[in-house]
Amino acid sequence: MKFELRNITRRFGDRIAVNAVNVEIPQGQMVGIIGRSGAGKSTLLRMINRLQEPSSGSIHFNGAEVSSLKGAGLRNWQRDCAMIFQQFNLVPRLDVLTNVMLGRLNHRSTLMSLFSIFSDDERLAALAALERLGIEQTAMQRAGTLSGGQQQRVAIARALMQSPKMLLADEPIASLDPLNAKIVMDALRDINEREGITVVTNLHTLDTARSYCERIIGMAHGSVVFDGPPSELTAAAVQEIYGSDRDGAGIDETMTSTSINIPAAQTSTEKQSGGIGTLASARA
Ligand SMILES: Nc1ncnc2c1ncn2[C@@H]1O[C@H](COP(=O)(O)OP(=O)(O)O)[C@@H](O)[C@H]1O
Ligand SMILES: [Mg+2]
Repeated sequence: MKFELRNITRRFGDRIAVNAVNVEIPQGQMVGIIGRSGAGKSTLLRMINRLQEPSSGSIHFNGAEVSSLKGAGLRNWQRDCAMIFQQFNLVPRLDVLTNVMLGRLNHRSTLMSLFSIFSDDERLAALAALERLGIEQTAMQRAGTLSGGQQQRVAIARALMQSPKMLLADEPIASLDPLNAKIVMDALRDINEREGITVVTNLHTLDTARSYCERIIGMAHGSVVFDGPPSELTAAAVQEIYGSDRDGAGIDETMTSTSINIPAAQTSTEKQSGGIGTLASARA
């Protein structure tokens, strides 16, 4: 299985948000997209699951052209690539279990959805998803009463209920404290490794991308200016992505750091040694 963006461009008026991006992602990769605010990261991600339409170019998955899908085909695609957001997008006054089961909506008839009739199987699957993320004890609480970290885990559980092939995450940890950020990133990595689900995540911190992602895509002004493993992300590459300060001193990596990842950094070295091989063979 392979996902592909071909020459994807998105304009807003005369502003180019995403400029002729070409990216191929083999199934099962964990990809981090980094870049300054306004670089085009969110627009790129939103085009992948068709929340936003490209101005030109095309999107392909396993030989099918995703960018021309309509109706049921489009809904199936949006089920296949679940999205999680910085602000979680839960229904705060509904309980956690119901929020997770809402992930099944794309699998069911409108009438069943309308009345929120969920089967025992769906309840069990939702509970299992919550258990998987270590928050099954919150199942009956209103989602709005949970901490940010717990809410993001609920959102991931809801995404898992879609049985996605791809998980898209737009700055999933930007609103979280360092401990919860680590828990959420660990959960994404675990899903990627155990289920082989491709994860594409926008990240505002460089060290998180380095620690968790086998491949980093750096964007600047709508274009991809870096695409490779963390080991190739040199100071010069970082400077090209983030630009330099007015005095030309370049960027200090701690500026884009949450400093949370000491344990994660160790495991990422292990993964990296296996991950680069996979990457190289996938590209060959
Ligand atoms: N809906 C929109 N209408 C107009 N301009 C937009 C819209 N969405 C994004 N943009 C512009 O496109 C550029 C890229 O934005 P975005 O994809 O949100 O970047 P990032 O996620 O990297 O911060 C920015 O200049 C932004 O102002
Ligand atoms: Mg964004």
